[in-house]
Amino acid sequence: MRQAGRYLPEYRAMRERFDFLDLCKNPNAAAEVTLQPIDRLGVDAAILFADILLIVEPLGVGLEFARGEGPVIHRPVRAEDAVARLKPIDVESAVPFVFETVRIVRRALQDRVPLIGFAGAPFTVASYLVEGGPSRDYLHTKRLMYEEPAAWRRLMEILADALARYLNGQIEAGAQAVQLFDSWVGVLSPDDYRAFVLPHTHAVIRALTPGVPVIHFGTGTAALLPAMREAGGDVIGLDWRVDLDTAWATVGHDVAVQGNLDPAALLAPLAVMREKAKAILARAGGRPGHIFNLGHGVLPQTPAFHVKALVDLVHELSSR
Ligand code: CP3
Repeated sequence: MRQAGRYLPEYRAMRERFDFLDLCKNPNAAAEVTLQPIDRLGVDAAILFADILLIVEPLGVGLEFARGEGPVIHRPVRAEDAVARLKPIDVESAVPFVFETVRIVRRALQDRVPLIGFAGAPFTVASYLVEGGPSRDYLHTKRLMYEEPAAWRRLMEILADALARYLNGQIEAGAQAVQLFDSWVGVLSPDDYRAFVLPHTHAVIRALTPGVPVIHFGTGTAALLPAMREAGGDVIGLDWRVDLDTAWATVGHDVAVQGNLDPAALLAPLAVMREKAKAILARAGGRPGHIFNLGHGVLPQTPAFHVKALVDLVHELSSR
């Protein structure tokens, strides 16, 4: 999950010096930000500092990270002709800085903890391209799916191909596991997920270098979990809106699960946060294949010492 970011004073200090995209594109600085939570928190894995939208910049859609607003796409892709106009993505020349960041982080970590690379899943990346930014109801995206299914399919194929090459590039550079973020896929019905998304996510996962664990995550996915499992992944990421034990039984105990503390629990008094974390470990029941995590990224308002207290608690309880 996102563990670097604005809740860390040392990250905010970096952002005084660098604009967000410039930070992502500067391998030494991005490596430093990747390592910040490792040094401060004692987490068990590093997650590459990058963004799911870096890979779409070469499409020529006008990507910008506006202060306080999140990502903006200035020329959204809403119809067949816009899909046809997209420039091809040459992954190697488009994002060499990401691969260089991976190499620097691996050298710096010296195998203290593994490094997780990541990409957005095709649906979530497409949703930004079509909507032009975050959305409540994803109506432009659904309109494209329903009214111009061939254009939707073409867009998803373009993305799936680029995303698989992007993740394999991270793996080749040294990423030891990869996570696919389908953060906004929970807006879809199970039927639409199966018809418009599953084949493309499956195509990405199928194309990945064998032997590298794949974590497949989404939010609002209670009804989608069986289909997400079919799409693939060695680990299914769960958000906090599901009970971990029920969700694990739904996806099957032959797959690992990751999750699922509500990130807002980190804003609660420490005693409350600890109870909530314990409840999740109780639902996991000591079964092998549970990766304790938040159900989504750390919120900017979170006190950093709460995150450290959570890491310590999970280590203490799970070593018993
Ligand atoms: O711990 C890490 O190093 C994680 C790095 C990371 C970022 N983005 C950095 C970032 C990861 C894993 C992502 C993935 C990402 N980006 C996702 C999927 C994960 C998720 O949380 O669902 C999504 C949907 C995006 C798109 C994106 N990028 C959004 C919605 C935003 C704005 C959100 C916000 O908090 O304002 C970003 C910007 C972004 N990406 C920030 C960071 C640290 C905040 C930028 C800043 O102002 O410094």
